[in-house]
Amino acid sequence: MSKNLVHKVPKNFHDAHITPQKYKEMYQRSIDDPNGFWADMATEFLDWNQTWNRVVDYNFSKGKAQWFSGAELNVSYNCIDRHLPKRAKQIALIWESDDPEESMEISYADLKTEVCKLANTLKSRGVKKGDRVCIYLPMIPQAAYAMLACARIGAVHSVVFGGFSPEALKDRILDADCRLVITADESTRGGKNVPLKANVDKALAHCPDVHTCLVVKCTHNDIPWVAGRDICYRDSVNVMSADCPPESMAAEDPLFILYTSGSTGKPKGVLHTTAGYLLQAAMTFKYTFDYREGEVYWCTADVGWVTGHTYIVYGPLCNGATSLMFEGVPTYPDAGRCWDIVDKHKVNIFYTAPTAIRALQAQGDEFVSRSDRSSLRLLGTVGEPINPEAWEWYHRVVGDARCPIVDTWWQTETGTHMITALPGATDLKPGSASFPFFGVQLALLNEDGSEVQGAGSGYLVVKSSWPSQIRTIYGDHQRLIDTYFSTYEGYYFTGDGATRDADGYYWITGRVDDVLNVSGHRMGTAEVESALVLHPKIAEAAVVGFPHDIKGQGIYCYVTLMDNAEVDDNLRAELIALCSREIGPIAKPDVIQWAPGLPKTRSGKIMRRILRKIAESDMESLGDITTLADPTVVDTLVKDRLKIV
Ligand code: WTA
Repeated sequence: MSKNLVHKVPKNFHDAHITPQKYKEMYQRSIDDPNGFWADMATEFLDWNQTWNRVVDYNFSKGKAQWFSGAELNVSYNCIDRHLPKRAKQIALIWESDDPEESMEISYADLKTEVCKLANTLKSRGVKKGDRVCIYLPMIPQAAYAMLACARIGAVHSVVFGGFSPEALKDRILDADCRLVITADESTRGGKNVPLKANVDKALAHCPDVHTCLVVKCTHNDIPWVAGRDICYRDSVNVMSADCPPESMAAEDPLFILYTSGSTGKPKGVLHTTAGYLLQAAMTFKYTFDYREGEVYWCTADVGWVTGHTYIVYGPLCNGATSLMFEGVPTYPDAGRCWDIVDKHKVNIFYTAPTAIRALQAQGDEFVSRSDRSSLRLLGTVGEPINPEAWEWYHRVVGDARCPIVDTWWQTETGTHMITALPGATDLKPGSASFPFFGVQLALLNEDGSEVQGAGSGYLVVKSSWPSQIRTIYGDHQRLIDTYFSTYEGYYFTGDGATRDADGYYWITGRVDDVLNVSGHRMGTAEVESALVLHPKIAEAAVVGFPHDIKGQGIYCYVTLMDNAEVDDNLRAELIALCSREIGPIAKPDVIQWAPGLPKTRSGKIMRRILRKIAESDMESLGDITTLADPTVVDTLVKDRLKIV
């Protein structure tokens, strides 16, 4: 990595919200006097119905964190109502359809009407404070309305990414015990229709407690309809009142559940609460993107991921910003779509994932250079480490060497940005997420749990609570403790490795556990393995990640057949289809290698470290294999690997 290359803060950011001096002062205060610092921020950024008795109280060993206890507020009030005196006519959401000819602008006043009407629909179907509502929608404004309508009445939303399979959807509905699902007939991406309602029907066949399915009609194609259960979204909200008083919520009342993958077992329901989450979402939005009044901001993530939650909906709207939501894909009708959208809506701030940057870079500069992009002021990335080549292309070609790039490191569990450049305060090093956000205390740990001092590498941990911290894993608090707070006593364990250089910049090196990051999507190797072994011919499977030019990481599967099974022409395709069916198209394996045996320790544990090296064709670094139960399996795997291009 070209660690010495530094891009200085450009002149037009010298008047940014956060300057180098201000960063130093605010960061120092946030560590020395967290109570005072966060109380001031809470007063500045949010409107409260009732103030707090205590700013923070936490205990990592019990996995407990409480912020602003005693206080009350409502998230939808903070994201909508309080802006109305000044911004009723200002655009809250710009929606750009998959079809380049179609877009829509939703003002703050419109947003209030839509959210209140939907909130009243939810109430009319018996949804109460604390109930869970599943949202399985395309990237359409109703996704934002649905989240805010839940927040308005104190229901807890669980958004499930529209690319997940019926099976994955079913698991999530059951785990959170959702009784109402909001979906659409079909979603449209890249000119193709995806059957969302049909997926819901399949899932609901196994969810007897779901009594209501609200259906947004997007394509208006024929879909099956279950009388009594299925309700047309538009028909229902049309007859509702546009007035729905926001429920006053306790600071620690749950706001949402969002499922994410871990290294073992099923995806876990990460639970976030009301005040701390909203505060850090609002603050990071304003400071990381140096958001200024009247600017148009676009985050390309899907609302099904945490990035969509925090940086399409809650962060921008809490700041009274204009947030663009895009239904389609960056390559339809062609690879210049993003830049056409930037020009069409005069986007000032653009936030995307390195995988999208690499994919667009591969299509050639002409798709970018044909557009103007002079409205762009700032670029951002999220989701995986960005390789310096992609960074430089993004900076030079997309940003015309004019726009700083904020590389933001964070996780579903952290809720909001944790390590990021602030464009007016940080000299940028391509590939580094740079410095901790206010209040975030990091450390790098050695294997034995001691802290790395100064420059060095280690396991990335957080030393004290932050407001938007995960509060629990829904229904399984012990799993929270085991996953994040037990590996190293007294620390939150991120699952990532990192390096700190001599200037204090953090460089994230990637996951140190069995979690894959495929095109910025998190996936547990165990999830893919469980899907593969459902096939009757498969005895065992081991899945690892390997470097992939566009996706960052690809999915590499070692598969062992049952004793008397044989490989036929279809088997590979069947296994790929199986992963797609069980998890979703994002889980399709890139490489399947037939493995007569897998490297295991004498106690039967699969040595993934060796499998990763073989997948990377890095046969020099296999390490000591003598401790394996049967070292000869490695020779076979290596030989077979070399035959795969
Ligand atoms: C990775 C996405 C390097 C990391 C917001 C983390 C990153 C996981 C970055 C969380 C970044 C996210 N640089 N790696 N800027 N941002 N990651 O929960 O491995 O989908 O642990 O949240 O993505 O993924 P998640």
